[in-house]
Amino acid sequence: MRVHRNLRTLVMVMAMALGCATLCNAQIGPSDMKEQPWWKHAVFYEVYPRSFADSNGDGIGDLNGITSKLDYLKDLGVDAIWITPCFPSPQVDFGYDISDYDNIDPMYGTLADFDQLVSEAKKRNIRVILDFVINHTSDQHPWFIDSKSSRSSAHRDWYIWRDGKGQGQPPNNWLSTFGLSAWKFDPTTNQYYYHYFYPEQPDLNWRNPAVEKAMFDVTRFWYKRGVAGFRLDAVDSLFEDPNLTDNPVLPGKDKFGRPNMEEKYNKKLPEMHVTLQRLRKVADEYGAVLIGETWTSQVKELEAYYGENGNELQLPMDLMLTNLPLSAEAFREHINAVDAARGWPTYVITNHDIRRSYSRYGDGVHNDDIAKMMAGFYLTLRGTPIMYYGEEIGMANNDPKRKEDVKDPIGLLGWPLEKGRDGERTPMQWNGGPNAGFTTGKPWLPVPASAQTHNVQTESENPDSILSFYKSVIQLRKTEPAMLEGAYIPLNESDQNVLSYLRKSPTGTVLVVLNFSPAPQNPTFDLQKQGFTSPKTKALLQNQADVADGPLQTVHLQAYGTYIGRITD
Ligand code: NOJ
Ligand code: CA
Repeated sequence: MRVHRNLRTLVMVMAMALGCATLCNAQIGPSDMKEQPWWKHAVFYEVYPRSFADSNGDGIGDLNGITSKLDYLKDLGVDAIWITPCFPSPQVDFGYDISDYDNIDPMYGTLADFDQLVSEAKKRNIRVILDFVINHTSDQHPWFIDSKSSRSSAHRDWYIWRDGKGQGQPPNNWLSTFGLSAWKFDPTTNQYYYHYFYPEQPDLNWRNPAVEKAMFDVTRFWYKRGVAGFRLDAVDSLFEDPNLTDNPVLPGKDKFGRPNMEEKYNKKLPEMHVTLQRLRKVADEYGAVLIGETWTSQVKELEAYYGENGNELQLPMDLMLTNLPLSAEAFREHINAVDAARGWPTYVITNHDIRRSYSRYGDGVHNDDIAKMMAGFYLTLRGTPIMYYGEEIGMANNDPKRKEDVKDPIGLLGWPLEKGRDGERTPMQWNGGPNAGFTTGKPWLPVPASAQTHNVQTESENPDSILSFYKSVIQLRKTEPAMLEGAYIPLNESDQNVLSYLRKSPTGTVLVVLNFSPAPQNPTFDLQKQGFTSPKTKALLQNQADVADGPLQTVHLQAYGTYIGRITD
């Protein structure tokens, strides 16, 4: 212990001697000089700025709105907020089309507002993470405007320009994930440019070192402003086959009616890992954390994003979790594999591109209990959780009912099979008043009737609410050492209905029991193998459960019940 303390003092003295240049900029404080980096024990919270809190009544959330809610986030137990893009943008993809990486969109405020947000957050020990849209810019970015102006422009090779195969024929068969061809013809220079997303989001050419330099400098700009890290957007589409080989066509049609395709030559090229490792080196100069939007189909694939020696992303998101059916068996199998894999797990149950967890898992009868069970699940695992705003109050998807109400362009293009992502992006529900207290104006997306019951104010006053449950379970993460450091040990592995596990560390053991079924369940536990001869339990948190403190006997759980107890011998 003494050695550690001395080492810590030495590091701090050295940092002070260096003018604290890099460590201070990235919001690293003395409490972080422990064995574990801060992000391992943090609860992250995704804020979609358009929809969180509107401070000026224009119906769109903004930075000052976020600042005004920092006390709420602190009280909830949040350690870091990830703000989805708030940079100048034509808003075709609601900010994921950036026209200036080093500024704030006036709709959201100013750089001064941003600095104020970072400094107010820091006072509350909350770090700020920004979104780095690394694959593409807006077509209104000065780089692209120059690039398309002539074949010999300074920025021509910053994007991917190619001749067509023939009159009216794009260079190859690659498709945009947003429903059109991935190539757009530009008559000024008679060439096509490549866009994996909307045509207004041309892909950057990451094979050009000038692009890498400019983009790496963007991260430096924000680190110096106190940003603690980035969530990296769409990393899988960074590189494309330079020979533009056609992708293999698969049987069947996609939701836009196009032939299915294996994205063999324009996704997940190995060069991506090299670039991410180089980006990590820059992050390390500032003690920053990188979170990845890492869509994978297997745990092995997810492992690759950590890098061989942990030299790539610290927190590649496990997005596979968002595709699992609500089944104890499916969740057990998956978590067992992720927990056993290399790297620190990063769990997510929903985000701004995915149906809200409340609606996805809800059966229409037990939705609130399921929401609590899911909190009892992913906030008690070994790993870092990333919450999505509104999840803590059980916000439901509010999908557009008519095509003319759709705001997200993919919803317009794919209607009615693809309704777009508006439903998961509706305003945060602060109270039961007009517009759920989000704005005094007309909200950019409608507030559902369920805001009457599922809102921060109402739920704060109810100890049995989803919000109160979230607060308690997050609190447990901070007070029970086993929740942070403890090993994950699955129990009763043949139980098809109940998912149970221990979090066990030398300083304590916590038992988590989750009924993934609508029927009552009564599991029993033999913890001999785990070193307990006559285990006793003490409830830390429960919902729809009836378990007496004392010798660990049958755990009685109602539909989707949750029991979390401290185990001693
Ligand atoms: C992933 C983002 O999460 C999504 O919202 C966006 O549309 C695409 N990347 C393109 O940037
Ligand atoms: Ca506003």
